[in-house]
Amino acid sequence: MSTLDYYNRHAESFHSETKLLNLNDLYEAFLKHVPAGGAILDAGCGSGRDIKYFIEHGYQATGFDASTELCRLASEFTKTPVLNTSFDLIEFDNLFDGIWACASLLHLKKVELPSVFKKLERALKKSGVIYCSFKLGDFEGERNGRYFCDLTHESLESVLKGTELKVLKHWVTSDVRKGREDEQWLNAIISK
Ligand SMILES: C[S@@+](CC[C@H](N)C(=O)[O-])C[C@H]1O[C@@H](n2cnc3c(N)ncnc32)[C@H](O)[C@@H]1O
Repeated sequence: MSTLDYYNRHAESFHSETKLLNLNDLYEAFLKHVPAGGAILDAGCGSGRDIKYFIEHGYQATGFDASTELCRLASEFTKTPVLNTSFDLIEFDNLFDGIWACASLLHLKKVELPSVFKKLERALKKSGVIYCSFKLGDFEGERNGRYFCDLTHESLESVLKGTELKVLKHWVTSDVRKGREDEQWLNAIISK
């Protein structure tokens, strides 16, 4: 089963388990770099939780996800259209003040990340920022039916080498889901 099959098959349960998670600390770390009312792209938006938060806080937020089923649920949840596309197909140019990629780029192969970060760089306006998160570590491969590429700060820096993007800040957090507090996440704010 591919990662996308996983999300399409488990869309309803994934949506209900993640749509109400509290990510306030992460929003704060990201939004301090985004102008009030600015344009935000939620890349790999899943349930639509974060699009909803950004819209409710006055931003112009839009999102995409490769899972058809999650796009449908996210669109219902946010009452806004969600684009069904994937990282390798996006062609946005100079449109966003911020790109939010929460636990989504982690499903790409490591070898794909440099070209995808170039696409995200192109999608950003001058001085725009990206928030992204990965499971912390060096593992790459299938885990419980999905493909994962874990990263450390050092491997993230190396992925960004061929781009103009710079890591402004990186930090490690514990998973916010109950019972998964032992899982560590690498978070980063990256600027153009
Ligand atoms: C762990 S979930 C995170 C969802 C959401 N960002 C969140 O924080 O709850 C990963 C998401 O990435 C999406 N995804 C996986 N591969 C993708 C790709 N190549 N392009 C776009 N979205 C992708 C999945 O469908 C899923 O919604």
